[in-house]
Amino acid sequence: MQASERQTLPAGCVVPAGAERRIEVGLLGATGAVGQQFVRLLAGHPWFQLTWLAASERSAGRRYGDLPWRLAAPLPGAIAALEVEALRPGRGPELVFSALDSSVAGECEEQFAAAGHAVVSNARNHRMDPLVPLLIPEVNPGHLALIERQRAEKGWRGALVTIPNCSTVFLAMALAALRPFEPRRATVTTLQALSGAGYPGVASLDATANVVPFIDGEEQKLETETQKILGTLGAGGVSPHPVAISAQTTRVPVVDGHTEAISVELGVEASHEEVLSAFREFRGEPQELSLPSAPERPLAVHDSPDRPQPRLDVEAFGGMAVHVGRLRRCPALGWKFIALGHNTIRGAAGAGLLIAELLAARGVLAHARAGSLAAHG
Ligand SMILES: NC(=O)c1ccc[n+]([C@@H]2O[C@H](COP(=O)([O-])OP(=O)(O)OC[C@H]3O[C@@H](n4cnc5c(N)ncnc54)[C@H](OP(=O)(O)O)[C@@H]3O)[C@@H](O)[C@H]2O)c1
Repeated sequence: MQASERQTLPAGCVVPAGAERRIEVGLLGATGAVGQQFVRLLAGHPWFQLTWLAASERSAGRRYGDLPWRLAAPLPGAIAALEVEALRPGRGPELVFSALDSSVAGECEEQFAAAGHAVVSNARNHRMDPLVPLLIPEVNPGHLALIERQRAEKGWRGALVTIPNCSTVFLAMALAALRPFEPRRATVTTLQALSGAGYPGVASLDATANVVPFIDGEEQKLETETQKILGTLGAGGVSPHPVAISAQTTRVPVVDGHTEAISVELGVEASHEEVLSAFREFRGEPQELSLPSAPERPLAVHDSPDRPQPRLDVEAFGGMAVHVGRLRRCPALGWKFIALGHNTIRGAAGAGLLIAELLAARGVLAHARAGSLAAHG
C-alpha cells in the first residue's frame, strides 16, 4: 500500500475536533544529521505534522530555513519558516522525537517525559534503563508495556521510548528472524558510514581512503542492546536474550549505510533454504497494521553474490528495509551472511517514525492533541 492511500488516523487515537487533522509532533535536535532526516521523512507524513522545532541555544531564535540544510532533498517551505526554540519541557506537542546529542539528551528527555510528552529518542542515554523500551516495532512491540511501569515508578505523565543504536537495529532484525532456530552465539564486524558520526563527524584526513578501527562505545552497544531487544518481558522487566555477541566496529569512507559481516551459531539445525525462508518471511506488527513507514518486507534478501552494497541498495524501500545477502556456511559458527541498513533512516529517524506510528496505532498517544502542552493545560 502507498503512503498516500493511508490518510486516515489510526483507530484509538484521540485528536482534537476535526478528526481529519494530523497529529502535531515536535523535534528536539532538529538541526543535526538525524534531526534533518526526521524533517525530511515527516514532510507529507499521512498521520503526523511537524510543527515545533528545538535545538541548542546556538540555534534557538533563528528561522530553521536560515540554518544549514545538508540533505539533497529540498527543505519543505512550511518547516523553513518555523523558528527554532530552546529545549523547554512543556512547550511543543505531546509527541516529540529526540535527535539530541547524548551530552544533553539524558536529563532533557526525562524532563520532557515528566512534563507529559511522549518522547521517541535516538540518543543512547536511556536505552538500557530497565523501565524504558528499546524498541524495534517488528521485533519487540510487546516491550511497550514498560510505559505503564515508567508512569507508575518514575511518576512521568508522558513516556520515553528509545530507538536502538543504528548498527544494533540491523543485527537485531536479522537475529530476530532466526529466533525459531535459537541463535546462541554471534560475531559481527561492522563497516559504518561517515554520516553515522553526525555533522561534521570524522575529520576528512582520517576518513578519506581509510578505515578507522574504533568507534567509541559502539561494540558494547551491539553486544548489550541486542540482548535487551531480543529479551523477554516478564514481571521483573526484560530478561536479556542469552545470545552471546562479539562485535568489532569500523568507520569506512561510505556516506550512508552500515554494512555488517555476521556469523551465527544456531541451537536448532537448519538448512540453507530454511534460513533463507526465515529471512524472507520475517514480518511483524507494523506490517500487520500497515503502518505508513513499514516496508512490506523488513528484510530484503539478495541472491546476487556481490550484494548488498551501500551505494546500490541502501536507499531502496525508502531506506526502511534491512538488506541481507551472501548466506553461506561458516566453519566456525555454522552460518555467515552480510547485512546492510540505512543508518540515519532505519537506524535512526525512520525507526523513530515507525515507533511513533505504533504508539499511535496502539492508542498509547491517547491524549494526542494539537498545539503545545502548555497551551492546552
Ligand atoms: N548519525 C546517525 O547515524 C545516528 C544514528 C543513530 C543514533 N544517532 C544518535 O542521534 C543523536 C543525534 O545524532 P546526529 O548524528 O544527528 O548528531 P549531530 O549532527 O551532532 O546533531 C546534534 C543535535 O543536538 C543538538 N545539541 C547539541 N548540543 C546541544 C546542547 N548543549 N543543547 C541543546 N541541543 C544540543 C544540536 O543542536 P545545534 O545544531 O543547535 O548545536 C543538534 O540539533 C545522537 O544522540 C546520536 O548518537 C545518530
